[in-house]
Amino acid sequence: MLYRISLIILSIIFISCSEIDTSVEKKQKNPLKTNAKQHDFALVIHGGAGYLSPKNDADKEHNALKTTMDSLLIMGKTMLEKGGEAIDVVTKVITIMEDDPRFNAGKGAVFANNGKNELDASIMHGKDLNAGAVAGVTNIKHPILAAKEVMTSSRHVFMAGQGAEQFAEEQGLTLVDNKYFFTQNKFERLEKAKKQSSKSSMRSDYLPDEKYGTVGCVALDKKGNIVAGTSTGGLTNKQYNRIGDSPVIGAGTYADNRTCGVSCTGVGEFFIRYAVAHEMSSQYRYTDKTIQEIGDDIINKTLKDINADGGLIALDKYGNVAMPFNTTAMLRGYINEEEKVVALFH
Ligand code: GLY
Repeated sequence: MLYRISLIILSIIFISCSEIDTSVEKKQKNPLKTNAKQHDFALVIHGGAGYLSPKNDADKEHNALKTTMDSLLIMGKTMLEKGGEAIDVVTKVITIMEDDPRFNAGKGAVFANNGKNELDASIMHGKDLNAGAVAGVTNIKHPILAAKEVMTSSRHVFMAGQGAEQFAEEQGLTLVDNKYFFTQNKFERLEKAKKQSSKSSMRSDYLPDEKYGTVGCVALDKKGNIVAGTSTGGLTNKQYNRIGDSPVIGAGTYADNRTCGVSCTGVGEFFIRYAVAHEMSSQYRYTDKTIQEIGDDIINKTLKDINADGGLIALDKYGNVAMPFNTTAMLRGYINEEEKVVALFH
């Protein structure tokens, strides 16, 4: 009899515990997140957040940029559709953007206060959280490839200055004279920034009409690997070997197959202080919010409230995309098996 009563009590306890567990789980699950659509693959890219106006008669220029983004997305889609690896897509896309003088990365890098171009880049693989970054390099033609070499061919994560340049040379990467990065319009922006820097604050160093900036790319491949990469010349008129968020893992770039991949653009000081890219991943992991909700909260509330200009692109592990920005424009685009979007303004 006692045995039967014990069994009944145990069953009641077991049933109530299961009910409690299930109800807690149900409460924690946001249907928008848990029923998130699975994409076989996805790709998102940005050409920087900045201050452009749709009324500045530059339609031709803007359309040409959007056409470039469109071709990059189609190229990336072709690679991913065939089973290409996210790492190869991210490095290919960013290498092409680094060759394009219209972007603030590689060839088109902006000028530091000392009249030189000092470049930063990073990349991260979501499978094993391996990562590589270079900062303040002055003669590496494709900083994103140097970041990749740091990740794949060294025991380190982050290399800077001459050491990073020596490492890149040893890996057989293309080196160039710093003059390779000269572009007249970026040089004129330095002169303009220097003139206005008497009333310098972090924000005024970011010219009110700052154009296309940093470049970034996040890809999810058919194996479920997420890779994120970012490359930049930093901010015009930066001083004292200033390094921004782009090469800082967790600030400008982050990828984790369990959560999402992120690449940021904007005034790097804020993105470092708020560890924005890692914050996206943490909130995705530990809260019920969707990738769009998290991105929007961080960019349009947390950062906007402190006048921190910028934006980000992100893909969650299902291929859902977020592209929030709090400036007037961010050149951006994404593609998956059924949809392609390219945009510049809100
Ligand atoms: N987000 C680019 C930089 O601040 O350098």
